[in-house]
Amino acid sequence: MARSASIYVCSDCGHTEPRWHGQCPGCTAWNTLVEEAAPPKAGGGRAGRGGGAGGARARTPTVLRDVHAEQTKRLHTSIGELDRVLGGGLVPGSLVLLGGSPGIGKSTLTNMALGHLAGAGHRTLYVTGEESAAQVRLRAERLGDHALEVPIVAETDLDAVVATLDAERPAACVIDSVQTLHAPDLTGAPGSVGQVREVASRIMSVAKSNGTAVILVGHVTKEGALAGPRVLEHLVDCVLQFEGERERTYRTLRALKNRFGSTNETGVFEMRSGGLVEVLDASARFVGEATGKPGSVVLAAMEGSRPLLVEVQALVSPSELVPPRRVVTGIDRNRLALVLAVLGRHAGVGTGTADVFVNVVGGVRVDEPGADLAVALAVASAQKGVALGTPERPIAAFGEVGLTGELRSVGHPDRRQEEAAKFGLTDVVAPPRVTSLRAALRAAFGAAREEGPVRAA
Ligand code: TYD
Ligand code: MG
Repeated sequence: MARSASIYVCSDCGHTEPRWHGQCPGCTAWNTLVEEAAPPKAGGGRAGRGGGAGGARARTPTVLRDVHAEQTKRLHTSIGELDRVLGGGLVPGSLVLLGGSPGIGKSTLTNMALGHLAGAGHRTLYVTGEESAAQVRLRAERLGDHALEVPIVAETDLDAVVATLDAERPAACVIDSVQTLHAPDLTGAPGSVGQVREVASRIMSVAKSNGTAVILVGHVTKEGALAGPRVLEHLVDCVLQFEGERERTYRTLRALKNRFGSTNETGVFEMRSGGLVEVLDASARFVGEATGKPGSVVLAAMEGSRPLLVEVQALVSPSELVPPRRVVTGIDRNRLALVLAVLGRHAGVGTGTADVFVNVVGGVRVDEPGADLAVALAVASAQKGVALGTPERPIAAFGEVGLTGELRSVGHPDRRQEEAAKFGLTDVVAPPRVTSLRAALRAAFGAAREEGPVRAA
């Protein structure tokens, strides 16, 4: 009987079919049919969705000014970096999707957050579908006392989880992970698009009615999409991405979407034996570790509202390959191609027959045009084998490289300068003091060394 309970809806054109097809008979797109729970009868929506059209009463709209909106108090997880990325803590009744590749520390972070909330006297609930309760306990033992106070259920049945949420009415709940829960009225396997969407929407309605803040843990696919084809991103209030490489110590937490705060806030964490530790002085660490050797430049980046100094390293070596290799970590590969092209064309630094490797140290990812100049200087420095600073005083840079070889200013120049000055980097190469890439190279390479290329504010 399970079959009749679900229909298949094309995610492109909305065409519905009673059975799954590889190709949508409506619009001929491939692999777009997604299983959904069928409405009980034509015209009537299921509870919690849509609503009926036939006998429904018209509603009177309210002017926004008259809408009652309580200033709800946020739940503070006591993990400063997490609270900041969330925009000041968890909002009651909100749905947060936390994505990240396996082993990055999603379970650790959520368990710690719930532990702190439990320690502060809030009702919490940890739903694990991935690990057994015993496994979660073993982890929690390493995370301090309060982590063990979190109530846990090991369950993968969606109905049971929803019933538990309704009975327990926790202030905060973690579902680890959304892909392991299974809605029995759908035939699709757990983790399939239809299932994940159903799970999220059912959990959302129970969370909204009880005021429970829910963190859905989601896996990232090989392509980097959250929980399948980004099906949840528009449903949830907040999408957090936990990034970094498993082998590296530093991990960054980033908001991709936030209905209650700014996006692009980033928190930096370090995985230690006792769980995740916030890295509050990230700039100090990265500057302290900067080598100041040929190919090394400090980038004064902005991570959301916060300046962050990171070391950009480049290596240029003769290549036997045609085309030569372009390998990047932490920056966009196409951005490197652009910088290399402008370096060759407008600044006389050719890398056409060399392999170029660029790495942002510490597993940090920088997604802003302000990184261009630091990348260009690092590549030029590596290519010439000339150091741009000393280990004690590496050179810092920021600025966008334009296609005609000009340098363009980027957001928050003052805050970047201040951050650099705070850590003793007085040599900052940046627009508007230098207006072209060529001038920036001249300023960075010795010529102006004695006078100091551009003084920090
Ligand atoms: P985990 O939170 O289970 O990752 P995810 O839920 O994202 O898959 O933990 C990731 C890794 O962190 C795991 O391989 C072990 C390591 N780890 C530590 O180094 N220290 C710790 O205190 C804990 C709890 C985990
Ligand atoms: Mg996990």
